[in-house]
Amino acid sequence: MIRNLQDKIRIAEGVEMPGFGLGLYKAKAGDEVYSAVRMALDAGYRHIDTATFYENEADVGRAVKDSGIPREELFVATKLWPTDFQKAQETFEKSLSYLNTGYIDLYMLHWPGTDETLRYRAWDVILGLREKGLIRAAGVSNFIADQLADMKRKTGEFPANNQVELHPWFQQRELRSFCRQNGISVTAWGPIFHGHLSEEPLMEEIGGHYGKSAAQATLRWHIQNEIAVIPKSVHRERIASNADVFDFELSQEDIERINALDGKQRFSWDSTKFDGDAEKARKNSHK
Ligand SMILES: NC(=O)c1ccc[n+]([C@@H]2O[C@H](COP(=O)([O-])OP(=O)(O)OC[C@H]3O[C@@H](n4cnc5c(N)ncnc54)[C@H](OP(=O)(O)O)[C@@H]3O)[C@@H](O)[C@H]2O)c1
Repeated sequence: MIRNLQDKIRIAEGVEMPGFGLGLYKAKAGDEVYSAVRMALDAGYRHIDTATFYENEADVGRAVKDSGIPREELFVATKLWPTDFQKAQETFEKSLSYLNTGYIDLYMLHWPGTDETLRYRAWDVILGLREKGLIRAAGVSNFIADQLADMKRKTGEFPANNQVELHPWFQQRELRSFCRQNGISVTAWGPIFHGHLSEEPLMEEIGGHYGKSAAQATLRWHIQNEIAVIPKSVHRERIASNADVFDFELSQEDIERINALDGKQRFSWDSTKFDGDAEKARKNSHK
C-alpha cells in the first residue's frame, strides 16, 4: 500500500510508478491544463496521466518543463487511441514532441479496439519504442481479462499496467484478481465516480467518520485496496485535498460497506465492441 503521494509501485523490471497521479481527461487544453499540472506538481504529485485523445499533451509538456522538476523524478503517461493504431510510430513521435520529456514513462494502448491485427501491430511498435528507450513501460487500458490473456498467448508477455474504470460502483474484482495473479498493476480511471461523486451519499457519510471528504474516503478505499489512482481536478483546493489521504485509515467495517456498493453503475464502453469511434459510441449508448 502506498504511504505518501510520491510512493511508488513496481510496474515492470526496473520501472516504478507513483501510485497517485493527476488525471487530465476533459481538462481544457491551454491555461486550464497548464495550471492544473503546475498546481499538482507544486502540491507534490509526480505522476501525470494524459492521452492523445485529450488533446492537451503540449500543455502538459510546457507545465512540466516550467516546473523545473528533474525529469527522472517525474512519471509521465500517455496513450494511443485505436483509430491511430495504423500510424502508431508517427502518433507516438507527435506525443513525445508535444510532451517534450525525452521519453515517456508509460505508453498505453488506450482501448483494445476491435481489429486484433491492428492492435498487435501497434503493440509491436510500442515494444520497439521500449527497445529504443523511448518509453520505459508498455501498458494497456480498458482491457478485459480475455484480452490480456490473448496478448500473453500471442506476444509472450503481459502489459506492465492496465488502466481501467474502477470505483466503488464498479469494482472490477475479477479483473483485479487476474491482474494480481499475473503481475499486472492496475490503475483506476474515474476513481472518484467519474464526476458522479455527489450521487453516492455513503462516501460523504464514511468520510465524516474521519473528518474527511467523500473524495478522500473514496481515494483512501482505492489505496487500501492497492489500486493506483489518477483523480482529475483542475482546481487547486481539490488537487491538494484529493492527495491528503495518507493520515487516516478506513476501518474494515467501512471498507465492507463501500464494497457492498459494487455493481451500481459503470460508465465505460464495452471493451469488446468499442472501435475508437467515440461519437458513434456516444450516440448508441443513450447516456
Ligand atoms: N483510460 C481511459 O479510458 C480513461 C477514461 C477516463 C479517464 N481516464 C483517466 O483517469 C483520470 C480520472 O478519471 P476521470 O477524470 O474520468 O474521473 P474522476 O477523476 O473520478 O472524476 C473527475 C471529476 O471529479 C471532479 N472532482 C475532482 N475532485 C473532486 C472533489 N474533491 N470533490 C468533488 N468533485 C471532484 C472533477 O471536477 P474538477 O476538475 O472541476 O475538480 C471531475 O469532474 C482522467 O482524468 C484520465 O486521466 C482514463
